Amino acid sequence: MKLLLISGSLREDSYNTALLRNVEEEAVLWDELKELPHYSEEEDVEPAPLAVERIRAAVRDADAVLFSTPEYNGSVPGALKDAVDWLSRPRGSAPLLNKPVGVVGASMSMFGAVWAQADLRRILKTAGARVIETELPVAKAHELFEDGRLQDAELHARLQAIVDELLDTVVADQVAA
Ligand SMILES: Cc1cc2nc3c(=O)[nH]c(=O)nc-3n(C[C@H](O)[C@H](O)[C@H](O)COP(=O)(O)O)c2cc1C
Repeated sequence: MKLLLISGSLREDSYNTALLRNVEEEAVLWDELKELPHYSEEEDVEPAPLAVERIRAAVRDADAVLFSTPEYNGSVPGALKDAVDWLSRPRGSAPLLNKPVGVVGASMSMFGAVWAQADLRRILKTAGARVIETELPVAKAHELFEDGRLQDAELHARLQAIVDELLDTVVADQVAA
């Protein structure tokens, strides 16, 4: 089972990246988001820019993807929106098409990036992904980690439950195929 983890933060000490590092399942954490150019239809030709080809290949190769998004001004960071846009093309064979994906999010506010998570779900669905609905708002993230480890056992269990739900979706697909 190949699980890909994508953090929407470019920050070295990101809480969203830290959250994804707490996933117990064996997984690849994508750390090349900052290399992605802004989406441009003119650049979206064969061959696409190398960073685009690389993330498209990684998502195609993954059985499932888990995103963790910060909230910037009530929505997803621009870099993450660009990634979704690149991953939504080519139409009909886009890497996100029918891909099982989950969404979690962390912020330092008391709301836990709920608007960004809702927006990310909406745009991922528009891009053709199969988005699981279970939410994980991680609020006051700056109080929750020690040496990168998530200290809140309930949040840790809910994170793992979302990963399990994603992986169950993949297994159900394989059985049905
Ligand atoms: C430009 C900007 C806008 C932000 N807007 C919001 C917001 O709308 N809601 C919120 O909860 N936090 C907001 N924040 C705070 C971020 O959630 C916080 O910096 C968070 O730690 C970023 O995630 P990261 O730690 O993964 O980088 C904003 C931060 C920045 C830099």
